[in-house]
Amino acid sequence: MGIAGGGVGTAGKISIRPATASDADAVGHLLADAAGPLAAPIWGGGSIERTRERFSGMFARWGGSDHHYVACEDQRVVGVIAHMADRTDPWQSLRSSLATLRVYGVVGSMALSWRMRHMVSAEPAFVRNSYSVWNLAVEEEQRRRGIGSELLAHAHAGAREAGALTIGLEVLIGNTAAIRFYEQAGYKERRRRESAGLRAMTGAAGLIYMVRAVEDSD
Ligand SMILES: CC(C)(COP(=O)(O)OP(=O)(O)OC[C@H]1O[C@@H](n2cnc3c(N)ncnc32)[C@H](O)[C@@H]1OP(=O)(O)O)[C@@H](O)C(=O)NCCC(=O)NCCS
Repeated sequence: MGIAGGGVGTAGKISIRPATASDADAVGHLLADAAGPLAAPIWGGGSIERTRERFSGMFARWGGSDHHYVACEDQRVVGVIAHMADRTDPWQSLRSSLATLRVYGVVGSMALSWRMRHMVSAEPAFVRNSYSVWNLAVEEEQRRRGIGSELLAHAHAGAREAGALTIGLEVLIGNTAAIRFYEQAGYKERRRRESAGLRAMTGAAGLIYMVRAVEDSD
């Protein structure tokens, strides 16, 4: 499945298209699902509702929906994924920081940074020719219908078109459903980082970095 030109890929009644700011309301709760146990304590200051509002707000702001794609069924958003070649691109980082600043404000952004002090990354600092996937979630009632696999296949096509050699992603330790999902798609654990502080704050013990080779058939 190609994504050239930011086009539309379909499978059955599901279509995948680039996300826009107008998807923000639908996507807010999906992004909270993707953040799992980190969502409320870190992003919503303890409230899952506030997390969803803020994720929707960031998504609607300049740069918030960059590199995100939505899966739709009969025009309704049922899933989301983000993928891109170089997630450390400074322009992209600036755009997403500005979206965060617009939603949280200056004091709120400082409080968010404080709540993120125990965050760790299992991703190696520099991975040559790798492609990144993040923010994958499917509406709870629509899971186990192949939608997550379609979204992941969309990312794999992006990785192949970008000439990447590998695709990497991070998943929370303990998110067994997502880990099984990624394993059946060919991903293997490469590295894990634990954080006692993160566990105390959110219940999540840390992160796992998983990697899969890009294949000619992607
Ligand atoms: C992970 C997630 C995106 C999978 O989406 P999905 O649409 O249900 O996935 P699919 O239907 O394509 O599943 C494909 C295969 O993955 C595996 N899989 C998916 N969910 C699984 C689960 N809960 N337990 C075990 N295996 C699972 C199965 O092998 C499944 O094939 P099968 O249904 O024929 O057995 C979805 O569970 C989700 O949104 N979870 C909450 C958000 C999240 O954790 N995101 C990941 C952040 S890193």
